Amino acid sequence: MSAPSPSTWAVVLAAGSGSRMRADRPKQFLEFEDAPLFWRSAQTFAGMPDIAGIVFVFPPAMLDASARIAEELFSRQPFGLPWKTAPGGKRRQDSVAAGLAVLPKECDTVLVHDSARPFFSAGLATRLLDALSDEIPAAIPALAVTDTVKEVESGRVVRTLDRSRLYAVQTPQAFRRDVLEAAHELSRSENLEATDDASLVEALGRPVAVVEGESGNVKITTPEDARLLDKEAVMIPVTGFGYDVHKYGPGRPMVLGGVPIQGGPEVVAHSDGDVLLHALTDALLGCMGGGDIGQRFPDSDPAYAGMESSLFLREVLEDARRSGLEIVHADLTIIAQIPKVGPHRERIVKNVAALLGLPPERVAVKATTEEGLGFTGEKKGIKSVAVVTAVRRG
Ligand code: CTP
Ligand code: MG
Repeated sequence: MSAPSPSTWAVVLAAGSGSRMRADRPKQFLEFEDAPLFWRSAQTFAGMPDIAGIVFVFPPAMLDASARIAEELFSRQPFGLPWKTAPGGKRRQDSVAAGLAVLPKECDTVLVHDSARPFFSAGLATRLLDALSDEIPAAIPALAVTDTVKEVESGRVVRTLDRSRLYAVQTPQAFRRDVLEAAHELSRSENLEATDDASLVEALGRPVAVVEGESGNVKITTPEDARLLDKEAVMIPVTGFGYDVHKYGPGRPMVLGGVPIQGGPEVVAHSDGDVLLHALTDALLGCMGGGDIGQRFPDSDPAYAGMESSLFLREVLEDARRSGLEIVHADLTIIAQIPKVGPHRERIVKNVAALLGLPPERVAVKATTEEGLGFTGEKKGIKSVAVVTAVRRG
């Protein structure tokens, strides 16, 4: 008998008062992309196949009004996911406990998330869930600290901490539900104070795995941070360019943009020889200043023989997102005498868009011949160029 599939719920904390932000309302209700800020976290969770439902924890005094706002947002963007609300508590940990209290019976895994961190990616949440196991009941995202950190008392340095052992911790944090509940139970009986949930699991003496966090996953805390919500003011455009060539000859069946091209000439290649995804991957690397595909996945490495190029693309895409880049558009051109690209274009657009997590209208696939000139004209090979536009949160 196979194990029952896990039921994972996200608890989105939106019950703080945002005192340091000093805005006219709690910061999770500030406007961001035509919705209150907390909605962005819900959108990211709702886009994950692993999420079975969402609990929103709202300020008790605003519970009904906030539930109505959520209702309206779900009707605008119907994700088909169950959701619930809970009234928050005085401290963050009280709000988490209130969220846990309304989880449905079947839920066995929980992602606890601060809605003040709107920019985390679904990939991060998935990596956290993947890090859980029978032995590891908790996983958190963290980034190595780059500043030197000192302990200070009354304006004097007490000591300098060993930076190589210090990590700054983010949310979402992933937990097995039973262990997280036991941790909160312990915090109640022992009067423990904690600014994140993992600390309570640590107090239980259970292991907490660390997954690499995302530099873009910042917490909106002060009026200074609020500028991150003003998209135009802080989005720095980035462009990456990629170019790739493959020779025709006995080798591998032709694949373009992950779509098999029946009847197309075979290509000589180490991986699957997808010239379009290679150019696209190089363009993504170009957005990051991340070297090129040959450096990243060397031909000489037998591990990459026959490898599907979509796997290269996925890996580079994860890196791009981790470094705070949001991909917004891809413009691709295939240059070949044969095969004819037209009949395959729509499927290529769809597939590339799905790989990039973009709507199809943000992926252009064009094709041209070189009028019989050069190696493409002589039907000796195929080339592709790609331009990727991304924005970096500055
Ligand atoms: N939070 C909560 N319930 C509380 C306190 C905090 O749900 N009693 C949530 C906040 O809404 C936020 C997250 O926990 O999404 C992280 O807390 P923080 O950044 O400290 O937010 P606030 O407590 O709202 O801000 P401040 O500390 O400046 O008042
Ligand atoms: Mg707070």
